[in-house]
Amino acid sequence: MREPRRILILGAGGHGRVVLDILLQAGPCQVVGFLDNNADIHGRRIDGIPVLGPIDDLTTLAEQHDVGGVIVAIGDNGVRRGLARHVDRSGLTVLNAVHPSATLAHNATLGRNVVVAAGVVVCAHCQIGDSVILNTGCLIDYQTMIGEGSHICPGVRIAGRVKVEPGVFVGIGATVVPKVTLGCESIVGAGAVVIEDVPALATVIGVPARRIKLAAASEEIAAMLLPARV
Ligand SMILES: CC(C)(COP(=O)(O)OP(=O)(O)OC[C@H]1O[C@@H](n2cnc3c(N)ncnc32)[C@H](O)[C@@H]1OP(=O)(O)O)[C@@H](O)C(=O)NCCC(=O)NCCS
Repeated sequence: MREPRRILILGAGGHGRVVLDILLQAGPCQVVGFLDNNADIHGRRIDGIPVLGPIDDLTTLAEQHDVGGVIVAIGDNGVRRGLARHVDRSGLTVLNAVHPSATLAHNATLGRNVVVAAGVVVCAHCQIGDSVILNTGCLIDYQTMIGEGSHICPGVRIAGRVKVEPGVFVGIGATVVPKVTLGCESIVGAGAVVIEDVPALATVIGVPARRIKLAAASEEIAAMLLPARV
């Protein structure tokens, strides 16, 4: 029988603990430790698993502990996405964590560093990008695309043929009707019902959802929003 994969979780906060539970429920694996840049928790144990040191020492610690895979479990969308790209470039294997109670259509696709929590349903022909969090009990209906580094919070219902661009945060219990687009890094408030496209960087709340804020674009996002040059 093959030895279970030895895994490091990057991030020992709330999301890190959720990811630990998903990995343990999902099957044979050995979580050898957390890495976290908060020095106050180095050497402590979280749910029995040691915090081995800072994320900055990833390469050395992965080698020391004979690690076979890494998952980035940081709640902040931008940090999670950037760190996962960095880990990927460093040659370590980036893993997904899929809870055994989640239901994924046979033709749904998952990127890397994807977390699928308990009770999630992903329907036919959905495409889930790298570093996406599909949190507890959310529903993603057919042919919907979720862009890199987005977080779909617990109990969200996203209808069919929705396009969620990268870095979007959809708050707990929100609903999104079919065929709308949630622009890059937009935020949908808890419990909102989105019935039309949401512009990039906008925050929307309420039923039906209305815009309350527009954030300034980071350089990375500004570049993504530029019209393509011919
Ligand atoms: C939408 C949200 C991001 C706004 O946060 P914010 O930018 O800090 O905005 P504020 O808290 O300053 O609120 C601004 C206004 O919107 C209202 N508001 C905020 N969130 C709201 C919501 N979800 N629904 C309805 N109204 C909301 C506030 O009452 C406030 O109204 P006022 O100006 O009349 O006083 C936040 O409230 C939210 O819903 N976050 C979701 C959190 C979540 O789902 N977490 C789960 C993690 S797994």
